Amino acid sequence: MSAGKPVTVPSLGRMKKEGRRIVVLTAYDSPSARLMDECGIDVLLVGDSVGNAVLGYEDTIPVTMEEMLHHVKAVARATRRALVVADMPFMSYQSGRKQALENAGRFLKEGGARAVKLEGGARVAETVASLVAAGIPVMGHIGMTPQSVNVTGGYVRQGVSPDAAAELEEDARALEEAGAFAVVLELVDPPVAARITQLLEIPTIGIGSGPHCDGQVLVMHDMLGMDASFRPRHAKRYLELHALLREAFTSYAEDVRGGRFPSEEHS
Ligand code: KIV
Repeated sequence: MSAGKPVTVPSLGRMKKEGRRIVVLTAYDSPSARLMDECGIDVLLVGDSVGNAVLGYEDTIPVTMEEMLHHVKAVARATRRALVVADMPFMSYQSGRKQALENAGRFLKEGGARAVKLEGGARVAETVASLVAAGIPVMGHIGMTPQSVNVTGGYVRQGVSPDAAAELEEDARALEEAGAFAVVLELVDPPVAARITQLLEIPTIGIGSGPHCDGQVLVMHDMLGMDASFRPRHAKRYLELHALLREAFTSYAEDVRGGRFPSEEHS
């Protein structure tokens, strides 16, 4: 799979036109990124979800530029075909265009990413336009935007009332007009996500937004079942990794304590 041509921003647009679904996963480290790339995942999103998935934070708010760069570099080093997108962390672009340009530029120059993602609709359209004008491709992100969790009060379905749905449509259009190459729709009411997908020429990437988006994204740790107790409804589990890891760690501890490891074979 990975031997194919590198995925580019224009090739994602062509996939939408040709009705080919876009496959996106979050990635945070080199070995996982290498496997995803070899398995033909189209886009590796180094999400600021690294905060909760890997770094032990409550949410994405504390994640810094330096932490993101560390993970973006690890993913970019291992990726040959997929498009690597770096997520701009909270307060790395909200202060204005200059700040956004400097930080997004670092992701491409130092991190090896080929695009960035930021949260917000019409209110970030000017920032998106400046980044695109500087040669930095931007993926938008509307609906439930985790960096605004302290304003919205929680992770709840978006676009349910007619007014909220209309606002989401306007946000999506504003991002397209500003030059975004794709837009993530998170926890958007599925009929609204379907309508936005029809309205836009750029691809929509859904997460918890129903089956009618042009592509889907999942957080790697959710689809692998890394955390036994965290089961978001939208995340299909392809593995119960927590159980496999628990078994392996327990067996190792028992082997060392019982004198079974190392044996002759491992000496
Ligand atoms: O940070 C992240 O992983 C994301 C995806 C869930 C879209 O923003």
